[in-house]
Amino acid sequence: MLKGKKIGFIGGGNMAEAIVKGLLAGGVATHDITLAEPVAQRRDYLLASYGVTAVDDNGSALQAADIVILAVKPQVCMTALRSLPGDACSGKLFISIMAGVTTQAIENALAKGVRVIRVMPNTPALVLQAASAIAPGTSATAGDLSLALEIFNLLGTACTVEEKLLDAVTGLSGSGPAYVFTFIEALSDAGVKNGLPRDKATLLAAQTVLGSAKMVLDTAEHTGVLRDRVTSPGGTTIAGLHALEQAAFRGAIMNAVDMATKRSEELGKS
Ligand SMILES: NC(=O)c1ccc[n+]([C@@H]2O[C@H](COP(=O)([O-])OP(=O)(O)OC[C@H]3O[C@@H](n4cnc5c(N)ncnc54)[C@H](OP(=O)(O)O)[C@@H]3O)[C@@H](O)[C@H]2O)c1
Repeated sequence: MLKGKKIGFIGGGNMAEAIVKGLLAGGVATHDITLAEPVAQRRDYLLASYGVTAVDDNGSALQAADIVILAVKPQVCMTALRSLPGDACSGKLFISIMAGVTTQAIENALAKGVRVIRVMPNTPALVLQAASAIAPGTSATAGDLSLALEIFNLLGTACTVEEKLLDAVTGLSGSGPAYVFTFIEALSDAGVKNGLPRDKATLLAAQTVLGSAKMVLDTAEHTGVLRDRVTSPGGTTIAGLHALEQAAFRGAIMNAVDMATKRSEELGKS
């Protein structure tokens, strides 16, 4: 249970802010949240906007927390982890959202037997609509996993996966918003080409994606069944689908996820 737990953040950037919003919306008290953030202006902003505690040293945020969310860029990950006093790490749960940083790397950098969970959220976290995948490290317990699910379900929707699948998650939902933005833009362009004003074309395109996604999630029907229901014989939709098949639409999407997954694997190795 998240209620009453003290939550500390190492790094108070965009993703940390999104998580704070989710926590507050989920009923976590402002006095249970402490962020460590090096930039004074950013600390002032976090305090003024959310009423949470913002400090300039990572050790204080660590000391104050039961759950420590690691939310710095991967490039400064080791500097941030080394700033955490090893003796203060025991008994705490570390949740990392740092892309490409393995639970093993975090376990090795912190105290022995430390409980670590790795999460790959995506950018719609900023509007509390993230798709997040959660993988446990070697010492994380079932209770830790439940806590992480509770936190990231406040930010959208979360599921658990094995850590080795996080590269595929990065290729699909991590990079996915960029594919969807491109799809919405293409729909909008096509609307404009066929005479619609740009603002209305983009509104209709974005709401079509949102509404269709909601149907998939709410009905739990197979996407093929949902598609068949809007595809009448000899109608407009089958004509449009034919054009998509001719352009190898599905193959293009699968290639995009494949390429992004491979790139995530490469970046992880380097
Ligand atoms: N954005 C996404 O959609 C997304 C999705 C999945 C995962 N992630 C992961 O989320 C993490 C955070 O991303 P973000 O977009 O929130 O980055 P961000 O806005 O740059 O936030 C990172 C914050 O940490 C601060 N910081 C730097 N060094 C620090 C240190 N040693 N100790 C404490 N704080 C420090 C930074 O301050 P300065 O400005 O002074 O550097 C900055 O305010 C990244 O690891 C990223 O891989 C992001």
